[in-house]
Amino acid sequence: MVNPLQRIGILTGGGDCPGLNAVIRAVTKTALYRHKLEVFGIEDGFLGLVQNRIAPLTSDNVSNILTLGGTVLGTSNKCDPTRYPIENGDADPQFKNVTDRCLEHIKHHQIDALVVIGGDGTMSCAANFVRMGVNCIGVPKTIDNDLEGTDVTFGFATARFIATAALDRIHTTAASHHRAMIVEVMGRNAGWIALHAGVASGSDIILIPEIPYDIDKICEAVLARSRHGKRFSILCISEGAAPLNGKQVVDHYDPTSPDPIRLGGVGKVIATQIEDKTGIETRTTVLGHVQRGGTPVPEDRVLATEFGHAAIEALMAGKKNRLIVMQGRTVTDTDLLAAEGKQRKIPLDHPLVKAARDVGVQFGD
Ligand code: F6P
Repeated sequence: MVNPLQRIGILTGGGDCPGLNAVIRAVTKTALYRHKLEVFGIEDGFLGLVQNRIAPLTSDNVSNILTLGGTVLGTSNKCDPTRYPIENGDADPQFKNVTDRCLEHIKHHQIDALVVIGGDGTMSCAANFVRMGVNCIGVPKTIDNDLEGTDVTFGFATARFIATAALDRIHTTAASHHRAMIVEVMGRNAGWIALHAGVASGSDIILIPEIPYDIDKICEAVLARSRHGKRFSILCISEGAAPLNGKQVVDHYDPTSPDPIRLGGVGKVIATQIEDKTGIETRTTVLGHVQRGGTPVPEDRVLATEFGHAAIEALMAGKKNRLIVMQGRTVTDTDLLAAEGKQRKIPLDHPLVKAARDVGVQFGD
């Protein structure tokens, strides 16, 4: 029987994330070695599809990239082909739909299916192509761990490891100087990194977007520790944390991005408030993109390899428009369109929130 698939395209979209290269490698090697397919790499996410920057990937191209951070294909978190910026000098940005151009390039290279590696923004772009008849298999990535449909995304374990290591280091300096020390971590509107790194590091206070905080409760927790002879406090704060009836702290807006809000700065705001209200010296470290860089931890390399392999196996089984996911301990797939535009936040009754509370962690509520 003739294989219905001859050529697949692969792209990485959205923010980079440890493990992307491990997926590219697994997809390419499985496709080339096991199924004798051709693989075409698309540069810089959907931007490369718009601009026809598409070239064959060989096994040499994917050798020695398993442990490499970032993505050898490049990425873009600004390109949505339905909203492509028109060059118009300094005037207000204007956009047009260039999806037809992408479809022409897919046809020109005779690509039968796309493997799209990305987060919710990238999957929303993929969903548009699905509606136009392009078979897309999604592979979920994000350090934020907030993609609907999968219990875990690759990249999260590495970000959690980096944040935990940073908090461990902050611990010793906090103890020496008798300070309150804040580490602000990423995660957008989901607190997974803060919750896990906070628990792993034994942080005293963890603030997550899902639980609005009361600054007086935070100050009271810091003072209570002082009263009990604990001369320092460690706070692990998610960038998306917000006060009760208040707003998240926005670092800046990027009008050229489909998701224009860039969070950041809540750690500094809370540090100033703690100092003013308690008189305790308080310092903030913002971890930022350090959490996304460098070599993936083994857990992420394994998950990325499983996901990449599963993407090709799903295509070869004749599946269409699926999202590769981890449910429980099983790699499986779900409807790609079902996950569109949804974020997976921490449920308030999550067992780790309960365990953290029971070992004395304060959530500022
Ligand atoms: O989604 C991943 C993430 O690192 C978020 O945690 C963070 O809010 C955002 O991307 C930062 O985006 P950028 O790289 O555009 O600054």
